[in-house]
Amino acid sequence: MQQDLILCGRVLAFVASPFDAAGPEAAVAWHEALAVRAGKIVGLGTRTALRRAFPEAELVDHGDRVILPGFVDAHVHYPQTGIIASWGKRLIDWLNTYTFPEEMRFGDAAYAAEVAARYLDLTTACGTTTVASYCTIHPESVEAIFAEAQRRGQRLVAGKTCMDRNAPEGLRDTVQSAHDGSAALIARWHGVDRLTYAITPRFSPTSTPEQLEALGALWANNPTCLMQTHLSEQLDEIDWVRGLFPTARDYLDTYEAHGLLREGAVFGHAIHLEPREKDRLREVQASLVHCPTSNTFIGSGLFDMGGLMAAGHRIGLATDTGGGSSFSMLRTMAAAYEVAQLRGTPLHGAQLLWLATQGSAMALGLDDRIGTIAVGMEADLVVLDLASTPAIAQRATRAGDIWEAIFPTLMMGDDRAIAEVRIAGRKAH
Ligand code: GUN
Ligand code: ZN
Repeated sequence: MQQDLILCGRVLAFVASPFDAAGPEAAVAWHEALAVRAGKIVGLGTRTALRRAFPEAELVDHGDRVILPGFVDAHVHYPQTGIIASWGKRLIDWLNTYTFPEEMRFGDAAYAAEVAARYLDLTTACGTTTVASYCTIHPESVEAIFAEAQRRGQRLVAGKTCMDRNAPEGLRDTVQSAHDGSAALIARWHGVDRLTYAITPRFSPTSTPEQLEALGALWANNPTCLMQTHLSEQLDEIDWVRGLFPTARDYLDTYEAHGLLREGAVFGHAIHLEPREKDRLREVQASLVHCPTSNTFIGSGLFDMGGLMAAGHRIGLATDTGGGSSFSMLRTMAAAYEVAQLRGTPLHGAQLLWLATQGSAMALGLDDRIGTIAVGMEADLVVLDLASTPAIAQRATRAGDIWEAIFPTLMMGDDRAIAEVRIAGRKAH
């Protein structure tokens, strides 16, 4: 049994969405301390009150460090860890040149296990406690990441990436093997410990209509699974989809027509959306995932956070490793800020932190368990040092308030700013 724990510091708790009318700062309540018992948050308040309520607890004092929910990265490809930051290609040739050759290696269970462990080490060091990952077509790649997350007691979403066309030999499954392979992995992993299965057609260009249909049927039979895929990332890709699905009304319709659009659908990128697509996505409350370092790195475009949030969309934030150029959600928040600036709608620090925690948790339907600090939530926590480098420290000392003190770390921080990470209350970093 884990010993009770009290963490003291500047504890940030969201009491509302910082995108709501009351304003970003009004969405946050600050506390002196939180208490953890058996992996869950059981108290929030003053140090004295929690000491009185939990007299036997171990007390860790983080001084003026900020205690946040662990970061939730809502769209990643863990098999692309080894090819992150590959130079000079756009989406389709980037996939063909770098991604597909690397993904071909994941039929080797030992290689998959080694990369899965390396990936979770790297992301934990960045303060990320939950990811939603694509795997490869190989069941071995799914086994590897679920087994490693289970060993660490970590909450994680993953699924076998399905592709039965427009991918090289050795990286294609079939209608049947995509369905049956995914079904077997759902039976083995979905809902086990802290693990969630996401049915994962890679994107419409690499699935036949028959494969999309089979995965839609699988989702109908397994409604508590998530469904993750890509949508409207680059203009060339959208043209390609139009050619491959001549009767579809738009890109989203290629999913909708096959039972792959409802709440629980998680669409990566969603940059170049048509009005009908936006309306349908909002109506059904499907999730959109903003991947800003990827969208700038592969040259995809500028996600419309301001417009989509104001219209009532459900939106999370993600690295999209390895199309994204970082494992760090701090770096990702900085990129989200920069992209929003280019669109003329700057994001407040509270909004960036919310997107990286509760927003992403909501996008994955996990916000009743993770993504905010509140009694009853799972104790996945990150402790931020607001003076982790000399450059950040000299700026932070001039801050007039807490948000001015936090912002330099959001813009300039990296894994050095992550003072401590806890997964279900246990120290993970
Ligand atoms: N579209 C289809 N597959 C991928 C991928 O692996 N990365 C990105 N960024 N976009 C995709
Ligand atoms: Zn992706």
